[in-house]
Amino acid sequence: MNLTLKIWRQKNAETKGKIVNYSVADIEPDMSFLEMLDVLNEQLIMKGEEPVVFDHDCREGICGSCSLQINGEPHGPDRGVTTCQLHMRRFKDGDTITIEPFRAAAFPVIKDLVVDRGSFDRIQQAGGYISVNTSGNTQDANSIPVEKENADMSFYAATCIGCGACVAACKNASAMLFTSAKVSQFSLLPQGEVEADRRVLAMVEQMDKEGFGNCTNTGACEIECPKGISLENIARMNREYMKASVK
Ligand code: SF4
Ligand code: FES
Repeated sequence: MNLTLKIWRQKNAETKGKIVNYSVADIEPDMSFLEMLDVLNEQLIMKGEEPVVFDHDCREGICGSCSLQINGEPHGPDRGVTTCQLHMRRFKDGDTITIEPFRAAAFPVIKDLVVDRGSFDRIQQAGGYISVNTSGNTQDANSIPVEKENADMSFYAATCIGCGACVAACKNASAMLFTSAKVSQFSLLPQGEVEADRRVLAMVEQMDKEGFGNCTNTGACEIECPKGISLENIARMNREYMKASVK
């Protein structure tokens, strides 16, 4: 396949960015989207030009770092996959593909296609943990009964990889799906109940402080989420927030 790429180039956080056009030739349908960008970068390096900077690590849908807005959609046209799991057979010879970083005030661009998602880390740090005595006399987790339904819902919430596609998909740049997944994975388990009130209040406060927008129940986040995190988590977080606020 021969393709035209329209890629966001931005030197650093302080400078203005712009879309630059590139051509890539002989792209195999079985290449991943990131491998296609590797081919482009090899071409640029051979010509003495600066390669396009993009985030990636695991390249198997686990780390959540490969966050690209492809033709206006976070992680591209496929559902339930990250950018590194997207394959070039999804595109046609002669296609033009627009590639941008995830857009949100709380995700400032660092360079080209890489954004700073430290805001997610700070939401996690505000309460996304349980305080456990690990001095050697910790109760065996297997000795605490957990209802199967709650264990499953907690597990599904815990599959959130913190990629930020939910924020990029949302017209309000809301981080409610991410935050609610991180709240739910603990609040559904007995181990997480102890700090549940403090956790939900602190994480929502931090989310607001970071400049994310509010949720208006559009549901774009759930559709674009590569891990299928459910909107039910947002409803659960809202209930918990209300309960904790009136105590
Ligand atoms: S909720 Fe989904 S889209 Fe949002 S950060 Fe988690 S995995 Fe990514
Ligand atoms: S590179 Fe890790 S999820 Fe894509």
